[in-house]
Amino acid sequence: MIQYNFAGKVVLVTGSSRGIGGAILEGFAKAGATCLLHYFDDPKGENRRDAEQHAEKLRGLKATVHLFAADVRSPEAVEGLMKAIHQKVGGLDVLVNNAGILRDRTMRKMTLDDWRSVMDTNLDGVFHCCKQSLDILRDGGRIVNIASIAGIHPFHGQANYGAAKAGVIALTKVLAKELARRGITANAIAPGIIQTTMIGDIKPDVRADYERQIPLGRFGRPEDVANAVLFLSSEESGYITGQVLPVTGGWY
Ligand code: NAI
Repeated sequence: MIQYNFAGKVVLVTGSSRGIGGAILEGFAKAGATCLLHYFDDPKGENRRDAEQHAEKLRGLKATVHLFAADVRSPEAVEGLMKAIHQKVGGLDVLVNNAGILRDRTMRKMTLDDWRSVMDTNLDGVFHCCKQSLDILRDGGRIVNIASIAGIHPFHGQANYGAAKAGVIALTKVLAKELARRGITANAIAPGIIQTTMIGDIKPDVRADYERQIPLGRFGRPEDVANAVLFLSSEESGYITGQVLPVTGGWY
């Protein structure tokens, strides 16, 4: 594993109480970053429990971890999040927009709510977090947006998800141009199928069929995405901006 050094850097990963976001924050924790663990405080408190457990795990790796709750769909909540971060740690060096949801349905069956909830979380949420972070993101900083291969080659039933992720890719390319004068890079990652609760349990025969189509022969692990995020957040990637990096095992 490449040894990055993020000591002295403050990193926010949205939706980092579990799944891909959790693995990304763990990668930063191992590399010495100050970790801002963001979660969505759902009414049942499940995410808060996950967030607290994950924070304990990262503290066990000797990382400094601060927890913040916010609904990325709400501009007011995101504004409050960035203010709270500013007060607590003074600013941000890396913003990773990872929070997202999936609501696949064919166009005929897709309700307006299916459409809007995915756009609100996966596209508007990224807009709010990028926009509201601009005043606290330090010059030379990094933005990494977790898009999806579905933003380039969307699948059956993904009109909402594919459109939102394609929007994230376009937004990232614009940010790269607008923020270059401050030395801030903005890139997107397009994961393929990554084993998390988002994709749920897949029947063994369906899984085997997918795995046959993936040149590297397996589903991705959250750590596969985390490794790409750490690279795009590092000093070493400073001349790469406005790009989309697929993490798909060669599949599209
Ligand atoms: P997950 O469901 O485990 O994690 C999603 C995270 O987003 C959770 O922590 C959840 O609480 C948070 N979140 C959802 N709505 C939110 C809101 N309104 N405000 C704040 N946080 C909210 O899913 P997974 O797989 O870890 O996905 C992470 C990202 O990776 C998502 O953007 C997803 O679209 C993307 N992705 C996932 C793939 C996969 O195969 N698992 C493939 C391609 C992209």
